[in-house]
Amino acid sequence: MKDIGVLKKEAQKDIIRASSISELDGVFRVYLGRKGSISELLKKIKDLPAKDRKKNGAQLNILKRELEDLVARKRKDFTEKIDIQDDEWIDVTAPGVKLPQGHLHPLTKVLWEIEEIFISLGFSVSVGSEVEDEWYNFDALNIPAHHPARDLWDTFWLKDKKKLLRTHTSPAQIHYMQETKPPFRIVVPGKVFRHEATDATHGFQFYQVEGLLVAEDANIAQFRAIIQEFFSKLFKRDVEIRLRPSYFPFVEPGFEVDMRYKGSKWLEMMGAGMVHPKVFESAGYIPGKWRGIAFGIGLDRIAMMKYSIDDARLFHSGDIRFLEQF
Ligand code: DAH
Repeated sequence: MKDIGVLKKEAQKDIIRASSISELDGVFRVYLGRKGSISELLKKIKDLPAKDRKKNGAQLNILKRELEDLVARKRKDFTEKIDIQDDEWIDVTAPGVKLPQGHLHPLTKVLWEIEEIFISLGFSVSVGSEVEDEWYNFDALNIPAHHPARDLWDTFWLKDKKKLLRTHTSPAQIHYMQETKPPFRIVVPGKVFRHEATDATHGFQFYQVEGLLVAEDANIAQFRAIIQEFFSKLFKRDVEIRLRPSYFPFVEPGFEVDMRYKGSKWLEMMGAGMVHPKVFESAGYIPGKWRGIAFGIGLDRIAMMKYSIDDARLFHSGDIRFLEQF
């Protein structure tokens, strides 16, 4: 009888080398099929001398199981490979997989939109500084030390007590006027800081857009027309606004601009007024020669309205689930 060890080696080699399922089927038939070498040998067991029958029979049966096992594993290799090929099949008509892509922050979008609208209305965009002198942030704007109005702006002071994080963008008015001869119209967007507890509508840091128009004949009717146009463009519909008397030390008269919102409600949108003579004086302008209109818009507030967001803290949360919606 052919040596079982040799048979085993040959069979294993053939199975391993099979390069397709049909080749493997062929190898299976040669060794393990009904007429395969192992079956043939098993049939001959009965012809062996009695003392060899048991041992050879057992060895052959073990070999048979081992080889069947190997074939089964090899078969699995092929079928698994075919699965992978199935996965890799390309449907050229399928829509592409979108890679995640970043985009502008909602506040940046609104800010850029605001800038563009003002540019279309003849304004230019200027920048201020986030760190200011006490004088620019307060005194020059007619808010002297110990004046109760200072309490309106809780301040982050820097170590040397004369410098602070600006509590509003209004100090940019003074800087700009010191450097520029009227007439002009500018907007100054930027971050402002207030030492306040945060809640849904107040952060310790937020954005404002300051506006300043100086000319010989600047007047409130002109301001009203500009702001009406601004809000209509921003909210893409005819909006209704009203001016309500209010107090800011750097304007006289001062008022608040409200916009009609959802039918009957009026929402406060911005502070504004005619530039106070003291402010012109701080900037070194000849008294009485110029008239100015100034306004300060809260950017976060407007973005909240535009996108129907009820918590301003979301803008600075860095929460990607929130940001991805814009
Ligand atoms: N600076 C004011 C604030 O932070 C906003 C403001 C009100 C600005 C009236 C102005 C203005 O220019 O005329 O609350």
